[in-house]
Amino acid sequence: MNGVGTLGSETEHRARHVAIIMDGNGRWAKKRGLPRAIGHQRGVEAVRRLVRGLEPMGLECLTLYAFSSENWKRSEDEVDDLMNLMRRFIKSDLPEFVENGVKLKIIGDWRALAPDIVAMLEDALAQTANGHQTLAVALNYGAQDEIARAATQAASEGEITPDAISQRLDTHDLPPLDLLIRTSGEIRLSNFLLWQAAYAEMLFVDTLWPDFKPEHLGQALDDFARRERRYGGR
Ligand code: FPP
Repeated sequence: MNGVGTLGSETEHRARHVAIIMDGNGRWAKKRGLPRAIGHQRGVEAVRRLVRGLEPMGLECLTLYAFSSENWKRSEDEVDDLMNLMRRFIKSDLPEFVENGVKLKIIGDWRALAPDIVAMLEDALAQTANGHQTLAVALNYGAQDEIARAATQAASEGEITPDAISQRLDTHDLPPLDLLIRTSGEIRLSNFLLWQAAYAEMLFVDTLWPDFKPEHLGQALDDFARRERRYGGR
């Protein structure tokens, strides 16, 4: 195992699309007697490290759960902190995305966010449209809502079939999900990519999100390459 996710041979299948539930920012901060906001800041740094380390891993798409439709239930201060982090992250890292060929995609009901964030995201989507590695960020995202929207659209346009729904999900233009990782030791999906996870491998790690490094993802990719996937067959 080389821990950088660059292995490849006839018998190994390389992951194309990995998604991560980034959990544990609050606990990371609490363990150190720091405010939750610092945990989220360190969480953004973990995102930045990971995106910078993406190129050699050969992934086509990394999808990150940044803000769920349930996260509005958090305190107003915490929601404000998360939104401000988002603003700062886009502003500071967009030039690097463009330079490194990172193509931004947003999933979820993101157009319901604050108008200035929507405008920043639209600009970021346009500027990164020619990138070759997709960073999909789930914002104001809930899988049940995504599936309901897709099913409603499929029904209005014809028959509701699995294919018709898949083609209308926010992720319709992304590769199939290969691996879903959740950090911080919690073992649940929290309304993330429920449809897309049907045949995905799952990996639950104890690492708190701010401590998650590109090497962790590299190791997960190497392990994935060795797993046998049957898709219900034998
Ligand atoms: C879970 O930690 C994390 C979140 C609710 C938000 C994830 C957001 C970031 C990593 C930063 C923003 C991302 C971008 C792309 C700018 P938690 O607060 O639920 O942790 P806890 O369960 O330990 O309290």
